[in-house]
Amino acid sequence: MATAVDTENPLVEGLERLPVHPTALVIFGGTGDLAHRKLLPALYNLAHEGALPERFELIGVARRDQPDEDFQGMARQSIQRFSRTKPDPDVLEGLINDTRYVPGAFDDDNVYAQLIRTLDEFDERAGEQLDRVFYLSTAPQFFPVIAGKLGAAGLNRCETAHTRIVIEKPFGYDLESARRLNAEVLSVFDESQVFRIDHYLGKETVQNLMALRFANALFEPVWNRNFIDNVQITAAEDIGIGGRAGYYEGAGALRDLVQNHMMQLLALLTMEPPTAFEANRLRDEKLKVLEAIVPPAIADVPSMALRAQYGPGVVGGHRVPGYHEEEGVAPDSRTETYAALRLHVSNWRWSGVPFYLRTGKNLARKVTEIAVTLKPVPHLAFQSQGSVGVQANQIILTVQPDEGVTVSLGAKIPGPRVRIRPVNMEFRYGTSFLSESPEAYERLILDAMRGDATLFTRNDEIEALWGIIDPILTAWHEDTTSLIPEYESGSAGPAEADQLLDGDRKWRRL
Ligand code: BG6
Repeated sequence: MATAVDTENPLVEGLERLPVHPTALVIFGGTGDLAHRKLLPALYNLAHEGALPERFELIGVARRDQPDEDFQGMARQSIQRFSRTKPDPDVLEGLINDTRYVPGAFDDDNVYAQLIRTLDEFDERAGEQLDRVFYLSTAPQFFPVIAGKLGAAGLNRCETAHTRIVIEKPFGYDLESARRLNAEVLSVFDESQVFRIDHYLGKETVQNLMALRFANALFEPVWNRNFIDNVQITAAEDIGIGGRAGYYEGAGALRDLVQNHMMQLLALLTMEPPTAFEANRLRDEKLKVLEAIVPPAIADVPSMALRAQYGPGVVGGHRVPGYHEEEGVAPDSRTETYAALRLHVSNWRWSGVPFYLRTGKNLARKVTEIAVTLKPVPHLAFQSQGSVGVQANQIILTVQPDEGVTVSLGAKIPGPRVRIRPVNMEFRYGTSFLSESPEAYERLILDAMRGDATLFTRNDEIEALWGIIDPILTAWHEDTTSLIPEYESGSAGPAEADQLLDGDRKWRRL
């Protein structure tokens, strides 16, 4: 088991990071689910750690007509309920008691006029212009509306401070709409002002993928087609769609998890080493590798992609309904709650290595992991000695839960004979660092306030991602007749997914 060697000196993290200037953060969709569960609790934890600038102002914008005090009350409750640490009353009050609320529709000019008044008041009080961060946590149809209105109101630039816009997912629903949205946003803001969120990039374990690859000489020599047999990326969830049918029916698993989170994992796993952990150097490398993934021809989609829907079953001891019985789901809905793909990265490093991706709702357990399986050794000298279960080495990167890295090795079973059995060498975050990882949103909100776009998706990257997924979406959209397999809720997914695997490969057990 690995333990952190020098906990007194946690590398140079933080030392050369950009400072956080005094900032006013405006959350559009401030009363929504994401604000409740993630954004407000993340802000509280940043405040608790002293990571927010001394001057930090918060404004919520949403349709509901209510005074500042009601928004403050709601924010307090969200934090008390969802914060990963128990809120300290003083820190909580310090964050919340001067929070403002601007009610109105996102296309209403009065909203922006009131925003200007409130932001000016904050600036006056501070005696300087605060940086402004506009966080779009609304339904996606409002993204271009809000960007346009901010521009029309002159809120897209500040004379002496920075202005930034953070845009939640989904960024478009296919290649064309993503291009359109990019064009609309970039007609108002410069790319350097735009922060497209993929919260997986804020997860410690996802960043650790880069640390593992680029801070260790051990892996690089085998990180290629000569040694790697195949890669499986799994993002399994043990929850259904909850109350999100309105969104999910129009999205489906491919758009919801594959196009963004899973493809980001694939890009970080396969990209060439960037020369610096800096926004454009890193994103250039990701873009290059994404461009090496050849999008499938529509006719080939049935042989490289599979969709399915959950039926009724038992998850975590509870009986759950099938997708078609969920509230708000059309009885004849063909929206997939499970997607599996086989992709290839066509470059010198990866040619011929299959990458298998699968994700689904209501599966047996929640796990996000990358399993890199190496090729078997060329000759086994111990055969006659009765070795049992000799397996190819695997490197398993567990993103969540039980975050860590496992390397499977063949080891000799104690005794007079040379018998081999697989054993695991493990590093677990929990035991090695003895500290709880911050939530992804804490890191990302802070990075956006700093203007560090390293962990955000660039416009060309977004379009490359959609370019890979688009033919699959089109093929599925055009196919209105073939049966969509159903899997039992609480199971490992549809048996049909096995057909995507070549040879005698198997999906890892869930
Ligand atoms: C979101 C999806 O982006 O990611 C959800 O919209 C999904 O459907 C969630 O449940 C998973 O995130 P995490 O951090 O729990 O893996």
